[in-house]
Amino acid sequence: MTYPVNMNVTPVVSAHFDEATNTISYIVRDPSSTHCAIIDSVMDIDYAAGRITYDHADKLIEEITSQGLTLDWIIETHVHADHLSAAPYIQSKLGGKIGVGEKIMIVQETFGKVFNEGTEFQRDGSQFDALFKDGDTYMVGSMQGFAMFTPGHTPACMVHVMGDAAFAGDTLFMPDGGSARADFPGGDAGELYDSIQKVLSLPDEMRLFMCHDYGPNGRAIEWETTVAEQKADNIHVGGGKSREEFIKFRTERDAQLDMPKLIIPSLQVNMRAGEVPTDKDGNPMLKVPVNKL
Ligand SMILES: [Fe+2]
Repeated sequence: MTYPVNMNVTPVVSAHFDEATNTISYIVRDPSSTHCAIIDSVMDIDYAAGRITYDHADKLIEEITSQGLTLDWIIETHVHADHLSAAPYIQSKLGGKIGVGEKIMIVQETFGKVFNEGTEFQRDGSQFDALFKDGDTYMVGSMQGFAMFTPGHTPACMVHVMGDAAFAGDTLFMPDGGSARADFPGGDAGELYDSIQKVLSLPDEMRLFMCHDYGPNGRAIEWETTVAEQKADNIHVGGGKSREEFIKFRTERDAQLDMPKLIIPSLQVNMRAGEVPTDKDGNPMLKVPVNKL
């Protein structure tokens, strides 16, 4: 696959860090118009109380509104397991199309079973406005973006590239954070290695924006690096580590990790493009499947 890389466009990228989930949401603005896209929004949840709020999403909405921008796209790099998407809330305020990778159908099939969803839960991705295939392009004003299929962390992961900025989703973390886990249902360490190599085949000067940062070893939170820096210094894949080394390391490491705190509500909401499921009477309601994850 040859991707339509264009390093001559430099989008304005504004990052919003969510402290509760260590997620970074982005507003990406076309430098030659007032159009923008959001990558990976966050809806706030107090899971113990079953309470959902929108403070993080409201900050994104406020920035877009106060700058007079038009929101063309609300993109999910994948079905997140550690935070809930605010895509439908943002769409209700600002418009824009909600897009995700077309392999969402595999994720919906897998977790439709885990949560014992009935036939009313469609497994065809129809909850989203757009399903991206590898290499699909889209426009943010006059700026072209494209999707790179990067499975491994999940089967539906996509990295999104606009001009000289790539949004890595959960393929890579900052160089000192390494890579994301590959042990969720449908994940695969070997596929993740191959996907990371794809990302690292982008131009060296490509800016790379992470979806998460946990500030390893006490350093301050960061989210921006470059392909060159990742190739040289990434602790899991940098310096030419082999596929075999990576698979061995990743598999051993993943076996020691706990489930993300918000995986149960996140999956139920995010596989529905950010809509909270409802019970038979139409009340918003989340389930806890016992001994299924
Ligand atoms: Fe993730």
